[in-house]
Amino acid sequence: MNILRLAAAILLCLAFARAQNAKPEASLTSNPVYEKNCAKCHGKTAEGRFMAGPALLSGKATTMSADDLRNIITNGKHHMPKFGEKLSSAEIDGLVDQIQASSKQK
Ligand code: HEC
Repeated sequence: MNILRLAAAILLCLAFARAQNAKPEASLTSNPVYEKNCAKCHGKTAEGRFMAGPALLSGKATTMSADDLRNIITNGKHHMPKFGEKLSSAEIDGLVDQIQASSKQK
């Protein structure tokens, strides 16, 4: 019985360590693509800037589907410029994943 408990505890620790490692090493705000293209409007912390871009890690962006996010980043909207020609689709997918990953943490 004790050995089983010990084994279970070790497994839990391993699972926990893996979950920590599995975290995308780059969060949205540390992604160079974000820093270079988005931070000037959405802010270094992605919490939005007065009279510029809205928050991306809280508020409306967190309720949008991956398709909607991809669409806005690719095609722009109002004062949001389009990035479809500037960024690769892999880079855009990365941003979408990171916006959604950070909003799920909350
Ligand atoms: C020139 C300023 C500017 C830049 C640069 C910019 N955005 Fe935006 N973004 C905006 C504005 C303004 C809006 C609000 C659009 C609207 O009127 O609905 C917006 C909206 C968004 C939305 C929808 C969220 C919402 O609440 O409506 C997402 C997602 C987004 N931007 C992501 C990005 C990403 C990712 C980048 C970098 C690749 C980026 N933006 C670069 C200004 C900018």
